[in-house]
Amino acid sequence: MKLLVTGATGHLGSLIVKALLERVPAERIAVSVRDPQKAAALAEQGVDVRRGDFDDPASLEQAFAGVDRLLIVSTDGDTQTRIRQHANAVEAARNAGVGFIAYTSAPNAQESELFLAEVHRETENAIRATGIPYAFLRNNWYIENEAGAIQGIVAGAPLVTSAENGKVGWAARSDYAEAAAAVLAGDRHDNKVYELGGPLRSYADLASATSEALGREVPVQQVDDDAYADIMKSAGVPEFALPIVVAIQQAIRAGTLAVESNDLENLIGRPATPLTQAIKEIAGVQ
Ligand SMILES: NC(=O)c1ccc[n+]([C@@H]2O[C@H](COP(=O)([O-])OP(=O)(O)OC[C@H]3O[C@@H](n4cnc5c(N)ncnc54)[C@H](OP(=O)(O)O)[C@@H]3O)[C@@H](O)[C@H]2O)c1
Repeated sequence: MKLLVTGATGHLGSLIVKALLERVPAERIAVSVRDPQKAAALAEQGVDVRRGDFDDPASLEQAFAGVDRLLIVSTDGDTQTRIRQHANAVEAARNAGVGFIAYTSAPNAQESELFLAEVHRETENAIRATGIPYAFLRNNWYIENEAGAIQGIVAGAPLVTSAENGKVGWAARSDYAEAAAAVLAGDRHDNKVYELGGPLRSYADLASATSEALGREVPVQQVDDDAYADIMKSAGVPEFALPIVVAIQQAIRAGTLAVESNDLENLIGRPATPLTQAIKEIAGVQ
């Protein structure tokens, strides 16, 4: 039974392979990466490193040859590029005769008004249309998305948000990785949709967890979207990214990430990593 993970040189993909190596022998694990040189350390551990570029369908079909269970880690970039790239991967999986496809999706992808959901909706639909058994790993927000805010707090800034009391299921990226490894290496996951995330929390809750992690009060500054954009700009967020960070605040305010579920802890067999612990790691404090 050969398992393959795409995006294995990315942040999430590398953690997934690490978690897989704790579950199954290296010779059962393959990865598909754009640049095999970046995966040299995995090859040294006995992982089968293959070249696969989501913009090169033939390379993907070769990379997926002989694979029983495939995990497609969503790519980065703009919506239309990602929809096309993911469709290439799904088609290559079908042509290669893959028996199971897991895919890292987004919360409530089919109904969500989150601006990022379209990619995931389209990809879920493409996977379903193949008739291949699937599992959708609908990851809520990584706590690592807040690394800039947490480092700002360490440097003395308040936690700034325009999301009001909107809730997010923040969890450590490594927890999502462990859940993905459990699904890929396990069985009984056919045609399952997992809503993965930690307990729902607002930015005020995030400030409390950060206070606990740092051992000092962390003020929350609630502002409107325009002020949020101004503050992010002065904090060094590049101009092109400002509409995106504001759209994320709007989406959280609208409740698009407030998806409650125990799927993450059920898959990893323990509660999600406490937020204070994850924040300490991001902040570099013990
Ligand atoms: N839930 C959340 O909070 C959240 C946050 C950020 C991102 N995401 C999504 O989750 C995915 C994984 O997150 P991450 O933190 O691991 O992001 P990441 O480190 O940016 O990983 C993205 C991966 O996609 C690969 N990739 C991009 N274009 C490709 C192409 N044309 N062909 C082959 N591979 C390609 C990259 O390959 P290289 O290693 O060669 O660069 C990288 O491994 C992201 O891509 C994004 O879709 C979710």
